[in-house]
Amino acid sequence: MCGIFGCVLREGKAAPIIHQALKRLEYRGYDSVGVATIYDGRLQIKKDSGCVDDVHKKLDLNDLNGMIGIGHTRWATHGAPLMINAHPHTDCEGKIAVVHNGILENYSDLKAELLVRGHLFASRTDTEVVPHLIEDYMKQGFAFLDGVRETVKRLEGSYALAIIYANEPDKIVCARSQSPIVIGASDIDSCVSSDIPTVLPLTNKILDVQNGELGILTANTLNLVRISDGTPIQRDLRTITWDVELAQKQGYPHFMLKEIHEQPRCLEDAMRLQRRYIDLITTFLDRSREIYLLACGTSYNACLAAAYMFSNLCNLSTHPIIASEFIEQYGNAVNIESTILAVSQSGETADILHAIDHARFKAATILGLTNTIGSTLTRVSRAYVCQQSGPEIGVAATKTFTSQLLVLAQLALSLAEVRGKVSQERIDEFEVKLNEITHISETVINTQEEKVKAVVEKYRTAKCFYFLGRGINTATALEGRLKLLELAYVPSIAYPAGESKHGPISLIQEGFPAIFVCPKNETRKALIGNIMEMKARGAKIIAVLDEEDQEVKNLVDDYFEIPTGIPEILSPIPYVIPLQLFAYYMALARNCDPDKPKNLAKSVTVL
Ligand code: AGP
Ligand code: GLU
Repeated sequence: MCGIFGCVLREGKAAPIIHQALKRLEYRGYDSVGVATIYDGRLQIKKDSGCVDDVHKKLDLNDLNGMIGIGHTRWATHGAPLMINAHPHTDCEGKIAVVHNGILENYSDLKAELLVRGHLFASRTDTEVVPHLIEDYMKQGFAFLDGVRETVKRLEGSYALAIIYANEPDKIVCARSQSPIVIGASDIDSCVSSDIPTVLPLTNKILDVQNGELGILTANTLNLVRISDGTPIQRDLRTITWDVELAQKQGYPHFMLKEIHEQPRCLEDAMRLQRRYIDLITTFLDRSREIYLLACGTSYNACLAAAYMFSNLCNLSTHPIIASEFIEQYGNAVNIESTILAVSQSGETADILHAIDHARFKAATILGLTNTIGSTLTRVSRAYVCQQSGPEIGVAATKTFTSQLLVLAQLALSLAEVRGKVSQERIDEFEVKLNEITHISETVINTQEEKVKAVVEKYRTAKCFYFLGRGINTATALEGRLKLLELAYVPSIAYPAGESKHGPISLIQEGFPAIFVCPKNETRKALIGNIMEMKARGAKIIAVLDEEDQEVKNLVDDYFEIPTGIPEILSPIPYVIPLQLFAYYMALARNCDPDKPKNLAKSVTVL
């Protein structure tokens, strides 16, 4: 999830304005930075790996002449965060510069076509196909604007683009498909940005760019056209009244709530993984005699769910293990035939890296699933896959958790196919559900959030909560508990629901709240028994349940509804969302800061 910005002025220098804008966009990505301006008929470009301040200190981003320019702060998805992969990217002649936020799913095919036509590429990014394709169309006789339009018509995936051309230094062209952009208009300049807060210091007059639209900005004019046929679009400017800080959260009060609501889009991006990375990881998993799923915290809960996925789809038993326990528990057992699949959104968790050092010493194969390209985990892994969720600013993991689950489900399905463990019919069915999960998650957020607020109000003074589940949803219960614990500091206990009679039920008394994750699957009948044993001792039952499960609705005191028909191994993804919202609103009810929970850090880089 990168940040893009561009501006065109009537006078003065664009570079300092772009530099300040990139500072405001850094929350969207910060592994590399670049600026391009046009001066005296030529592109001037400065870019390097590192955050905005580091690159500015090294290169002086303000020291670029020209009244027009574009800039980018990157969160790599294709190509490590090196200078060569930093945006802006240019065509062969260095006349066209492009910055991009998004994922171009068909870039490999486009790149192959352009290579055959003699284009030379400098980077490993998907983005770089854009300037070369525009150049190619212009060589075929298209004017710049038409060349851009023909180019974006061929792009598949998500993009927010800002493009400048040295021979037409009066205009910036922008285009959008799914990734956000807005245009800002003042009486001295125009700008385009990934988000509204970055525009606000320049102007609060905004022109929205919708999917499938292309914008043309000059210092005095703004025009929108439809990408498909070039027809002009009339749209009024709107005035923004947000302050910058609120706007950076896109109107949400906290990054955590924004990121909970971002999950459908992140899940869509997690479904856009490059097949060759999935296949590579699958190949290594298929060769393994034993697989350890290594993680901490929320990522460990994802590994617990993954163990059910691999068992259910591939008839394969794996060992989910908390990284700080790995050496004590498996330090002697791990060997050259072992594979470690380390799951870490930051890719920098010290417990994981310490365990990996030991496993590498024992010649085990190291694989990684991370959200951070260029992280240490990507460097120590034989192969890795990036979940492409964009930076997660809230300390509590939300969108990265559900995307981890979706990537792990894709890996389990891929391994099952390779091993011939599932019929084509089941694969087809499952792939349909994989593609529905984004919409299902959106439905849960849209229909259950108000209900969560009401239930939080009802239990806001409770001293302790139980979170119970069975099968794969034991992991969901554990994640719901971790969220409530780390955000609202409410003592909570989570365990497989069948364990109650082996001890924990002794705590139950009148009014004690027990939250059950209760999908309509093989575990449901036993779960109903567990609900009854809790109710018999006076517990208040809150359930996350299938919307069609009237029997359980009648049994419980409060419930959150999940659309019916979700396969068991994908159920943690939608079923965790009400629990994320529950923890968020309980934190607010108890005057806790959901973005900065006390004593916690986003990435635990110490042992
Ligand atoms: C989750 O909400 C916590 N912030 C924490 O448990 C986190 O999941 C854990 O530290 C692992 O982080 P990682 O995924 O970056 O390795
Ligand atoms: N896919 C582009 C790259 O990897 C943009 C990344 C993003 O939007 O996060 O450079």
